[in-house]
Amino acid sequence: MLEAYSMVFLFLFCYQVASAEVHKEGHYVAAVYEHPSILSPNPAALTDRHAALELMNRNLDIYEEQVIAAAEQGAQIIVFPEDGIHGFNFTRETIYPYLEFVPCPRSVKWNPCREPDLFGDTEVLQRLSCMALRSKIFLVANIGAKQPCEYRDPLCPPDGRYQFNTDVVFNDNGTLVARYRKQNLYFEYAFNTPPEVDCVLFDTPFAGKFGIFTCFDILFYEPAVRLIKKYNVKQIVYPTAWMNQLPLLSAVEFQQAFATAFNISILAANIHHPTLGMTGSGIYTPLKSFTYHDMESHDGKLIVAEISVMPQEHESYVESYVRPGKSIEYPHNNFASLHLHDQVCSKREQETHCRIAQKDDEEATPIFYSEMMYDNFSFVPVIGTKGDLQVCANTLCCYLSYQRLTLSDELYALGVFDGLHTVHGTYYVQVCALVKCGGLSYSTCGQEVSEATALIDFQLWGNFSTSYIFPLLLMSDINLDFADHLGWKNKYYLMSKSGSSSSLVTAALYGRWYEKD
Ligand SMILES: *[C@@H]1O[C@H](CO)[C@@H](O)[C@H](O)[C@H]1NC(C)=O
Ligand SMILES: *[C@@H]1O[C@H](CO)[C@@H](O)[C@H](O)[C@H]1NC(C)=O
Ligand SMILES: *[C@@H]1O[C@H](CO)[C@@H](O)[C@H](O)[C@H]1NC(C)=O
Ligand SMILES: *[C@@H]1O[C@H](CO)[C@@H](O)[C@H](O)[C@H]1NC(C)=O
Ligand SMILES: *[C@@H]1O[C@H](CO)[C@@H](O)[C@H](O)[C@H]1NC(C)=O
Repeated sequence: MLEAYSMVFLFLFCYQVASAEVHKEGHYVAAVYEHPSILSPNPAALTDRHAALELMNRNLDIYEEQVIAAAEQGAQIIVFPEDGIHGFNFTRETIYPYLEFVPCPRSVKWNPCREPDLFGDTEVLQRLSCMALRSKIFLVANIGAKQPCEYRDPLCPPDGRYQFNTDVVFNDNGTLVARYRKQNLYFEYAFNTPPEVDCVLFDTPFAGKFGIFTCFDILFYEPAVRLIKKYNVKQIVYPTAWMNQLPLLSAVEFQQAFATAFNISILAANIHHPTLGMTGSGIYTPLKSFTYHDMESHDGKLIVAEISVMPQEHESYVESYVRPGKSIEYPHNNFASLHLHDQVCSKREQETHCRIAQKDDEEATPIFYSEMMYDNFSFVPVIGTKGDLQVCANTLCCYLSYQRLTLSDELYALGVFDGLHTVHGTYYVQVCALVKCGGLSYSTCGQEVSEATALIDFQLWGNFSTSYIFPLLLMSDINLDFADHLGWKNKYYLMSKSGSSSSLVTAALYGRWYEKD
């Protein structure tokens, strides 16, 4: 008897030691899967539930393998991308057979795996729930949902139902614990915007509460920013189906910037369709990231990483994270004295503006206009091995202090835009950007570039009118880097980087002025 007790004690003791080794204290293991979704060959054609389920089950077979693989590596939560199960490019009618009924998890406690017959048209939810239950893992996935509505409801669509782009979250028991309906649809004519903004949190035993939002939501105040500010969440799960657009909105580039800007962790899963420019997933903290971006391979990718429950803040915020009131001091005396010096002009530059710039700093900085991200940016060329530049538009002035460490035949420019962006969505941005141009002529500045050879030390800052600044730092071949310094200094937001061993493609301060949308 005694012996048996001590065996039990020994066993328990060993188990505790073993599990402590698996999960470092204050850490958890997260997984995201970039999924090359099997798409309907003709999403515009009408089909039936049977055919829809057949297609979705093929994607779910892959999900199942990934859940098992993630759990084997100790993952406690796994995130799958937007549109990963059903695909995209449907009409309101053709997506209907793919839609499931998703009850509100706050009003009904439901485990679809254990109680499959409670609601009809829930085959996908049942499979997802069983995956979570069997592998004892929290699971986040995106589906299409239908919800009947009353004709008396003034917002009810004429066909008597809402259709929502919906994220579902299951706990490690397979219980449905959260449902988020996408707020900022990206030209998804198959779906409705929810009648009220969903502000959704769910709780986990390993990392506390998580917030959730989807794809295009990342650019807007509701619900992403409200969620973070109001509920002080430190973890976000983020299913997305993101088409990359350089130089400012590549998936991994912006996901990292979001984590840094809000001092949070974000688990981002994208779908993988390189021919459509869709790739870029990762597990991000403000200081470290584990990413996948691959335009060559057709394969998906499971990323598993152990991260801290309380993200460590960026070590070197310049002064304070909170935007201070209006004062008119410059961040540093050196920054105020803007003058061009030490010009080493390339042949082409000498032919155009550089000589003039050397003669008269004030007047002759050769401003030119070029389209970047469909916006009319004002640029000044980055000339010579080092210098200080300034360019303004509307109420935003951008400043750059730079030193080129390698002499290469590459043109860079400092650009500014302060205005309403109106192509592929309407939103107000204030941007200061140091970009590598597509070629050697000014008109190529703002083009999509992903490779560079130049090593550049820089300080970039601007007098933004919004406190929401997303710091982008993209190096050659879509590699991310981290700034040395970041944050507010008086009324300027500043980013600096020196001594990087990678070549610079884009360094930008992407400000979102939500009130002016
Ligand atoms: C979906 O639509 C986009 C834009 O219209 C198009 O470029 C793309 O080829 C379509 N993709 C599929 C898989 O149908
Ligand atoms: C999981 O389900 C089991 C059995 O129904 C129950 O005893 C347990 O409390 C549940 N755990 C959670 C976290 O819901
Ligand atoms: C960032 O978050 C950590 C906790 O995760 C906190 O200790 C730190 O103060 C935060 N930093 C900023 C600048 O908000
Ligand atoms: C860009 O803005 C500048 C300055 O406002 C203006 O002169 C120019 O015509 C604009 N270019 C385009 C293509 O709109
Ligand atoms: C930014 O600086 C410029 C130049 O000093 C000034 O004209 C502009 O009003 C400033 N903007 C803000 C918001 O203070």
